[in-house]
Amino acid sequence: MPELTKLTVPLDVGGVTIRNRVFLAPMSGITDEPFRQRAHAHGAGLVVSEMVASGELAKGRAGCDLRIRHSGLPVHMVQLAGREAVHMAEGARIAEGEGADIIDINMGCPAKKVTGGYAGSALMRDLDHALTLIEAVVGAVEVPVTVKMRLGWDEGALNAPMLARRAEQAGVRMVTVHGRTRCQFYQGKADWRAIARVKEAVSIPVVANGDVGSAAEAADILEQSGADAVMVGRAHYGAPWIAGSIAAAGGAAGIPQSPRALADYIIAHYEDMLTLYGSESGLRQARKHLGWYLDRHAAGAGLDQRKAILTSFEPARVIAELRDAFSTAAAPVTLRSAA
Ligand SMILES: Cc1cc2nc3c(=O)[nH]c(=O)nc-3n(C[C@H](O)[C@H](O)[C@H](O)COP(=O)(O)O)c2cc1C
Repeated sequence: MPELTKLTVPLDVGGVTIRNRVFLAPMSGITDEPFRQRAHAHGAGLVVSEMVASGELAKGRAGCDLRIRHSGLPVHMVQLAGREAVHMAEGARIAEGEGADIIDINMGCPAKKVTGGYAGSALMRDLDHALTLIEAVVGAVEVPVTVKMRLGWDEGALNAPMLARRAEQAGVRMVTVHGRTRCQFYQGKADWRAIARVKEAVSIPVVANGDVGSAAEAADILEQSGADAVMVGRAHYGAPWIAGSIAAAGGAAGIPQSPRALADYIIAHYEDMLTLYGSESGLRQARKHLGWYLDRHAAGAGLDQRKAILTSFEPARVIAELRDAFSTAAAPVTLRSAA
């Protein structure tokens, strides 16, 4: 498949070299530093911070620092959300000061608490306002600025090609398009062909996103959209190696190859989250990951064991149960390199 060969070719984004063309999507509450570290180690071409509310960042609110801080990866990409040009510009300057190599602007989030504040995908309803934010960010920093968007607000307003063209004219160096409208939220199937209209509208790189979880789907989305790269989100649940697997045609680095190695891997992920957030918050935040790991690789774990892992407030107990669930023959483990 020629499209798959293309995925291994580095991509230039405004002078920043991205090592391959399969990216981890930003996912708030999921793609934190421990997750991005793992996806990068497995070979994802690019990883992006969870979105940071620029207003909160500009005001120095607690928690923003963890989202923007440099995790030592070769390309540090920070995503900003917001609706006030002054906050977006200030947020971009702060992120650049933390070492961001690329600033991404979120114009795709469908969540009501974000669109209700006229941020995220709500910006696609008012392109003039969206452009004021883009211009403010581009004017505030030296590093390349990118935009992530959906196809439009709804079926009657598929204006991603127009937004992408205007963004390019304003100096944006790459756009990512999730092939759904805001009103679809996550319903239905992403329209990969519709992304082609964005590709035709601009000469900067276009990243196609939505419902990709395997190399075959990555080849299809590239073929149907003509895009330059692929971004993968939810397929990573319980498998931080998916982007790396697609990029390396299944041979991603560091995929745990035995039940014991998988148990070690999951426990290390858990411990990294406890270290980052502190034990109390970390163990709550880690539960969704542990649930996905169980669903994906140890579906045979008993209900009591599952409950202990997902509700206990004692990290030592959780770790002991994880080791048991993933390492013993009683709970068959299925290792899957790609969904
Ligand atoms: C839980 C969750 C959180 C997300 N958070 C963000 C975010 O912070 N910024 C963003 O641009 N998109 C966010 N997204 C959208 C994803 O980046 C991606 O566009 C979407 O999930 C479609 O890709 P997929 O089908 O590969 O998951 C989020 C999606 C999910 C499911």
